[in-house]
Amino acid sequence: MTNKKVYIETYGCQMNVADSEVVASVLKDSGYQHTDKIDEAGLILINTCSIRENAEQRIWRRLRSLNYLKKKNRNLIIGLIGCMAERLKEQIIEKEKLVDMVIGPDAYRQIANFIKEAEEGHKTVNILLSHEETYADISPVRLTPAGVSAFVSIMRGCNNMCAYCVVPYVRGAERSRDPGSIGGEVRDLIGKGYREVTLIGQNVNSYNHSVYGKEIRFPDLLRMVAMIDPRLRVRFSTSHPKDLSDELLYTMAEHENICRHIHLPAQSGSNRILQLMNRDYTREWYMERIKSVRKILPDCALSTDMIAGFCTETEEDHQDSLSLMEWACFDFAYMFRYSERPGTKAAGKYPDNVPEDIKSRRLDEIIALQNRLSAISKQNDIGKLFEVLVEGFSKRSADFLSGRTSQNKVVVFPGEDRKKADYVQVKIERCTSATLIGKII
Ligand code: 5AD
Ligand code: SF4
Repeated sequence: MTNKKVYIETYGCQMNVADSEVVASVLKDSGYQHTDKIDEAGLILINTCSIRENAEQRIWRRLRSLNYLKKKNRNLIIGLIGCMAERLKEQIIEKEKLVDMVIGPDAYRQIANFIKEAEEGHKTVNILLSHEETYADISPVRLTPAGVSAFVSIMRGCNNMCAYCVVPYVRGAERSRDPGSIGGEVRDLIGKGYREVTLIGQNVNSYNHSVYGKEIRFPDLLRMVAMIDPRLRVRFSTSHPKDLSDELLYTMAEHENICRHIHLPAQSGSNRILQLMNRDYTREWYMERIKSVRKILPDCALSTDMIAGFCTETEEDHQDSLSLMEWACFDFAYMFRYSERPGTKAAGKYPDNVPEDIKSRRLDEIIALQNRLSAISKQNDIGKLFEVLVEGFSKRSADFLSGRTSQNKVVVFPGEDRKKADYVQVKIERCTSATLIGKII
C-alpha cells in the first residue's frame, strides 16, 4: 500500500517556497498529507534551484545522500521538481539514477499522475513549460507553522533575458496571475490570521493582466491588495530598476500599509557591464530612480543584489560597483560571485575570464562595504520609533519578541505580554550587526 505522506524540501528563492505550497495543495487533493519528518514519508520531493553553480552542487550532494532512504524503503518515491528539472533531466534520471521522476515548474497540476507512473516503475519526466500556467485557482497549503507572513505569487516566468541568468530558460516566459484570485488568496490569509503578504514574481513591475479589456498593472494590483484591509502589511519583490515607475512610488506613499522597502537589484555599477548584462538601464538611470524613491518615500529602505566578477569586469568596473553602493547606502544586499550558467547569453557570447581568486577578492570587498553600510543604516535607526509586526519569540530568549519594521529590519524587544501578529510601537535603543534592539513604548 502506498504511504501517502509527502516530505518537500525547498531550495532557492521565494518563488520556489510558493511553488512548494502549490505542490502540497495539489497533492493534498490526491490524498497526500504533508510531513516534516523525512523518515516517515513515502514520497520525497526536492524543489530545486539552478541560479548558481554552487546551488546545483549542493542539491546534487543532497540527492546522493538520500540514497540510504531508498535502500531502507524500496517503495519510496523521490522526485526532483523545480528549476533544475529543465536543465538536467537526462543526467538525473539516466546517468545518476537518483530520482524516480523529474517535474518542471509548470507541470505540477499533473503531479499525482506522474507519481502513479513512478509507483508502477516507469521513470517520468515532464518539463514542458507553459505560456499560461499561473496556478491561479490553486489555494496553496502553507508549509511553515501557522504564521504571520505569507508569499503570494502574482506572476511566473521572466522575459528580461539578463545575460547571466538561467531563469527565463528554466521557468519560461512571463505571465501574470488573474487579480481576482490574488485578492481571494489574500482575503483567505487574513481570515487565517496572517498580517503580512509579500507579492512575489521575478519582475513584479511588469505585472499586467487584462480584466474585461481593462489593463491592470502593478500599481493597480498593489493598491487593490493594500485596500483589502488596513491591518495587512503588503510587501513585494523583486523590482527591476528599468520598470520602477513614479506611479508605483506614489501608490506606496498613499497607503501606509504598503511597506517602506524596495528590493532593487543593481547587479553592477558600471555602465559597460550593465550593458553586457543586458540590464536595459544605466548607472545614471539607477541613481535617478533612487533619488525618486528618496523624494517620494523618504523613510523607504533600499536593498540590492550585486554580482562580482561578471565576464570582462575590470578593476575600474568593480570600483564603479563599490561607488554606486556607497552612494546609495543600501540598507541590505545579497552579493554573489558570478557563476556561468550553461545556455545563457553570457555563456554563449562572453568569456568567463575573471580569475576565481579575483572574483572572490572583489566579492569580499563588496561584502565588507555592505557590512559597513548596513551598520550605518541600523545606527541611524537608534532613538527612532517604529511600528513592528510581531512574528514570534526571539531566537535567544522567550522573554523577548521579534518582528520587523516596515523597512524590513528585524527588531528584538522585551515581550510585555504582546503576542504574534500584534502591532507594537518600539523605540530603538541599540543594535547588533544583524538586529535592532528596543523597547515597547
Ligand atoms: N551568477 C551569479 N549571480 C547570479 N544571479 C543570477 N544569476 C547569477 C549568476 N549566473 C544573482 C543576481 C540575481 C539573484 C537572484 O541572483 O544577482 O538578482
Ligand atoms: Fe533559483 Fe531562479 Fe529558480 Fe528561484 S527562479 S529557484 S532563484 S533558479
